Amino acid sequence: MSDVHTFDPFAKEPAYIHVNELLIDRVMKHLAGAGTIRLLELAAGTGLPTALMYRRAKATGVKLVATLLDLDLPALYQAKIEVDQDNATYIYGNAAMLPFGSEGYDAVFFANGLHLLDAEAKQKALRESHRVLKPGGLFAMNTTFYDGAYPEESKPFYGRWIRRSIVEINQRLPHREKGEKVQAMDFLTADDYRNLLNDAGFEILESRERRVMLSQAAVRAISSYKDFAMGALHATEQDAEDAAKALQATVKQTFHDLQMRYLPRTWLEIVAVKA
Ligand SMILES: C[S@@+](CC[C@H](N)C(=O)[O-])C[C@H]1O[C@@H](n2cnc3c(N)ncnc32)[C@H](O)[C@@H]1O
Repeated sequence: MSDVHTFDPFAKEPAYIHVNELLIDRVMKHLAGAGTIRLLELAAGTGLPTALMYRRAKATGVKLVATLLDLDLPALYQAKIEVDQDNATYIYGNAAMLPFGSEGYDAVFFANGLHLLDAEAKQKALRESHRVLKPGGLFAMNTTFYDGAYPEESKPFYGRWIRRSIVEINQRLPHREKGEKVQAMDFLTADDYRNLLNDAGFEILESRERRVMLSQAAVRAISSYKDFAMGALHATEQDAEDAAKALQATVKQTFHDLQMRYLPRTWLEIVAVKA
């Protein structure tokens, strides 16, 4: 797998780490008093939220036992290195069809990934999460790919950045064909997510939208993520790498043109309970 296709560079960005720490803090607050927490992280990727949760659990004297599931095998191997815990389990599987019975988890995380599933898979994944949680168990999600992720003042940046990147990619690939609109860009609203959770049997405990300031390095890192790059430039699988490079090459100039130091972006965060 080429580096340009992985999410890992963005997962190392301080702003990204922080917004996930905030989600974990909310979950830990609701689970206060538990001696042991059994966690299932769906779409775990390289395992950042679980790794952060282990740190928090250790600091507060809680025993964490985590299961990480993803359908990207190389990401799971990386997660094993990043999480580095003997009692963690790694499962290669689909969040919409969990390969186990009712496990009685205390918490299910779906961080930075639910937007990637199509409408039917989202519903199934939420019903599956509900099924494997114990009564009173928590479901926690966040995403910055939803209708509300772009603060008004960030819009000139995206317009200019995408225009520059299209010029750049057309120079690299003069005969490229545009790809289909990808699912990551088909944004749901915060209400849509809350309704999906209610329909799956959850009660919303908290829902908030967090403003995050992305540095140039963070914007470059997110550009290297295949789904982002394909969506932003309507690129095909074959052209994903060139799309990512075109986006990365134009970040600095776009920040400079608009005299910006940070790009504001909003993360939707929801914590719900199995009623
Ligand atoms: C952006 S990464 C997020 C990783 C991690 N949760 C985090 O917050 O850093 C999204 C992950 O979702 C995974 N994914 C997408 N669809 C999935 C599905 N149906 N079942 C399991 N994993 C899925 C991808 O393979 C990818 O690793």
